[in-house]
Amino acid sequence: MDFATRDLLLAAAHHILIFSIAAVLAFEVGVVRPGLTATDIRRVARVDAWYGILAALIIAVGFVRAIYAAKGWAYYSVNTFFWAKLITFGIVGLLSVPPTIAYIRWRNALKKDESFLPAPAAVASARRFLWMEVVVFAFIPIFAAAMARGYGMPS
Ligand code: HEM
Repeated sequence: MDFATRDLLLAAAHHILIFSIAAVLAFEVGVVRPGLTATDIRRVARVDAWYGILAALIIAVGFVRAIYAAKGWAYYSVNTFFWAKLITFGIVGLLSVPPTIAYIRWRNALKKDESFLPAPAAVASARRFLWMEVVVFAFIPIFAAAMARGYGMPS
């Protein structure tokens, strides 16, 4: 496959994956709120499983792109904004852990007791982590745009 085609396909895959993970995060922010129902819990736990899958795919496609396409590894490996982007993505990943643990706990509690509903404080806590994810996530496209335009290269 010639370079231009490879670069185009990886760029397209990268964009589809990052929009998908942003959509999952937006969905969770929309559902995890006061008044959460048993149906919501089952749905958000199911959708959240895609968060992990998409994150792994973004990292895989991202590194393949950085090494075998776009401007090549010699460029990204020394670019500050590239590493800032990855560290920020890592922080978003860490912030996604407590909500995921909560969903799994709630779903398991529901299996034992159909009338189970999480305490308002537990829902509020999961929601706080989701909003922190959103705020931190917003920096990634900013770093990406700077990285793609030569900012962050050693002088
Ligand atoms: C949710 C996480 C991510 C988001 C939101 C994101 C966002 C973006 C955006 C918006 C661009 C286009 C930049 C532009 O042309 O203005 C881009 C390009 C790129 N991203 Fe990501 N990205 C993410 C994760 C990653 C990861 C994990 C890697 C590598 C391991 C990566 C590697 C790249 C590369 C190599 C480019 C091409 C930049 C260029 O054209 O020189 N991205 N990313």
